[in-house]
Amino acid sequence: MNKTKLYNGGIGLVIGLAAIVFGIAMRRMKFQRARKSWQWASEAGRSNVALVTGASSGIGESFARLLAERKLDLILVARREDRLKELARELQDRHGISVEVLAADLTDAVYLERVAERVELLDNLELLVNNAGFGMNEKFAESDVDRQLEMIALHVTASMRLMRAALPGMIARRHGGIINVSSTAAFFTLPRNANYSASKAYLNVFTQSLQSELRGKGVRLQALCPGLTRTELHDHFENRRHRTMPWFMWMSADKVVAESLDALDRGQVVFVPGSLNKFIAFIGRTGLFNGIAQLVAR
Ligand SMILES: NC(=O)c1ccc[n+]([C@@H]2O[C@H](COP(=O)([O-])OP(=O)(O)OC[C@H]3O[C@@H](n4cnc5c(N)ncnc54)[C@H](OP(=O)(O)O)[C@@H]3O)[C@@H](O)[C@H]2O)c1
Repeated sequence: MNKTKLYNGGIGLVIGLAAIVFGIAMRRMKFQRARKSWQWASEAGRSNVALVTGASSGIGESFARLLAERKLDLILVARREDRLKELARELQDRHGISVEVLAADLTDAVYLERVAERVELLDNLELLVNNAGFGMNEKFAESDVDRQLEMIALHVTASMRLMRAALPGMIARRHGGIINVSSTAAFFTLPRNANYSASKAYLNVFTQSLQSELRGKGVRLQALCPGLTRTELHDHFENRRHRTMPWFMWMSADKVVAESLDALDRGQVVFVPGSLNKFIAFIGRTGLFNGIAQLVAR
């Protein structure tokens, strides 16, 4: 090998390595800048509050636990008051925060209005998590129509009403966040899940549109789209075939929530937790998978 070849090879190697180091440094800087772009009020020594719907189990309970670790006071909403009170006691004792329990069926307009009024009164609401929800996995034409209407009331009406209650205060304070718990189902047209997929797609589109409207107002929104997550949601299905999905397709609720809060720090508006779910959502967006999904879901 002559001297020039050796020299050029050396230069190439140095440039290549520099490019890799530069790339890593840029990624780290970008990540750090993004992380700094959201400062939790508790980090600034203020005591702010987060309201979580569907906090009596699963993803909502995990939100309550992780937000308590961030020293936010909490308002927990769901129907099972006993569970909420038990969780409230535990989090108060462990983290020294204040926790309020609101027992409410959010498909009931009277209860929903009570919760909305409570939200409107808050002058320190840092985060609203619209998480309460359920699935059905039934053929629409054979299903209980009241239950289908409850799904719209819970996923769509309740989430929209509570956002409307939360936003004026957040905009005035130029600080606040809203996480709407959607699903990877929002990217698919799944049989037995028409209303579920459609109601979650509504949350994605609503969240994205609203975030554009709120640009520069200091309010951050996220449509969180989990895939299969180990929670009680799956205990309520008559058709439990999807439970046989391999273990690597499932995430824990804690992991989903930890990734969601990191994504809120980074300002990601539609967020899919987990690498496999990201891939699944990508395939869903292309529309390629819907034919296969129809076969699997039968
Ligand atoms: N688990 C998954 O694989 C998965 C995947 C994607 C998206 N998600 C979404 O994640 C969210 C949370 O579900 P999860 O998986 O954590 O299931 P979960 O453990 O069954 O939790 C559902 C929560 O919603 C509350 N809820 C249900 N109906 C309500 C009502 N009418 N009024 C007030 N609260 C009500 C339940 O509390 P009460 O029964 O005490 O009222 C419970 O706290 C849902 O929006 C779901 O669509 C879940």
